[in-house]
Amino acid sequence: MDRIAVIYSTTDGHTRKICDRLRQVIERQGHQVALASIRDEPGPDLASFDKIVVGASVRYGKHNPLVFDFIRRNGKILDAKPGALFSVNVVARKPGKSQPDTNPYMKKMLKRIAWRPSELAVFAGKIDYPRYSFRDRMVIRLIMWMTNGPTERNAVVEFTDWAQVDAFGSVVARM
Ligand SMILES: Cc1cc2nc3c(=O)[nH]c(=O)nc-3n(C[C@H](O)[C@H](O)[C@H](O)COP(=O)(O)O)c2cc1C
Repeated sequence: MDRIAVIYSTTDGHTRKICDRLRQVIERQGHQVALASIRDEPGPDLASFDKIVVGASVRYGKHNPLVFDFIRRNGKILDAKPGALFSVNVVARKPGKSQPDTNPYMKKMLKRIAWRPSELAVFAGKIDYPRYSFRDRMVIRLIMWMTNGPTERNAVVEFTDWAQVDAFGSVVARM
């Protein structure tokens, strides 16, 4: 049985939901999972885990700077253990931008970090207009209009492929 830390950065909770799903899959395979927000102070004692997973969503073109701080600060421990990194964004709903080597945000993140985790994934996120501020809703609707996504003002659309999340959970359990 491995102990696996899953550290997430989320704004509207969707990355956290993906982490919950990963936890279910990994625990079913007999391992122990601890979920922690990147904002938790103090964070988990990473040295006491066998594997580390980091997941972060994109907002206005960027992953949360706390994710980069975390990866930099814990570089030695991350390099010493099997690890996985995933990004959540809505550009990933496009087939040509859904893989780690084709998703612009994952590519940009990998350029900024020295960590080379054993596994990478990109998951398509969620659009939830009723939840957004007026300004965010207008901006995201405009982006969706430009990229053939949902623009109806009350739209709630989950683009996430949960079978892909499940498969990634199994990969993490085995890595
Ligand atoms: C204000 C805002 C800005 C966003 N900016 C981007 C973006 O630049 N690129 C992208 O692909 N997705 C963008 N998204 C979509 C989010 O990545 C997606 O909603 C994701 O599911 C959010 O995950 P979270 O709830 O864990 O933060 C944005 C969403 C919001 C609400």
